[in-house]
Amino acid sequence: MKPLRSIAKKLKKRMFRYTPSGFPDPEACGAFYDARVGLLSGDDMMVLEYSGVEAQKRLFARATDLLPPQGRVLDLGCGLGHLIAYLDEKKLLYAAYHGIDVSSRMIDEASKRYSGRDNISFEHRDVLENPLPPASFDTGYILSVLGYPIGDDPMDSMMAIIENSFSACRSGIVFSHLVSGRKAGLRFTTVPQELAARCEDELGAKVEIDDDGEDFTYLIALRH
Ligand SMILES: C[S@@+](CC[C@H](N)C(=O)[O-])C[C@H]1O[C@@H](n2cnc3c(N)ncnc32)[C@H](O)[C@@H]1O
Repeated sequence: MKPLRSIAKKLKKRMFRYTPSGFPDPEACGAFYDARVGLLSGDDMMVLEYSGVEAQKRLFARATDLLPPQGRVLDLGCGLGHLIAYLDEKKLLYAAYHGIDVSSRMIDEASKRYSGRDNISFEHRDVLENPLPPASFDTGYILSVLGYPIGDDPMDSMMAIIENSFSACRSGIVFSHLVSGRKAGLRFTTVPQELAARCEDELGAKVEIDDDGEDFTYLIALRH
């Protein structure tokens, strides 16, 4: 291998492994993912921090099993928009799809890939600064988005994102998070039952947990 190509490959591997301890605000999180899009282009899974396509598909399958898409779909933290390809592949039908992300480069890349269809749209937006209007969607997905602590009170920031998305979706939402005590090195984890109870108490949601007891990622569905 040529020396320059080998250095580039090593740098990519380092960048892939680099995980910040958190972000002061969603804008900083967007800047981190902007940089990943630039530096790791050509390998979508590296950009998105998935171990591989199968891991991403497994998460999409678990989420859509819990809450099948219906009507207007919100994909908050849509990244490169891969959920669209998954829904198409599995013939899971919906009226419209709207992807939102705090990284403008993710939105540019997702738009290049998927925005040729009338019912697909993307938006660069921070829902903490600019919340979504109530009942503007039907089903919502927040997948592999809430894993980094944001702000001085990460739990508060995460609950604000969940609350706004839940109020924006008439049927409900599914989000994923990281289980406490299951994998070393994770910086922002929660106990599934505790977070579910909080969503039930504070948002009045009907909750359902998907936790297989092994995977460090779990999902919660919130229904109205
Ligand atoms: C690991 S990627 C996952 C992308 C996609 N959901 C998927 O599973 O392929 C996380 C994405 O969430 C976005 N993100 C993180 N925090 C966000 C927030 N508060 N609002 C919107 N997007 C956010 C990041 O910019 C990044 O594109």
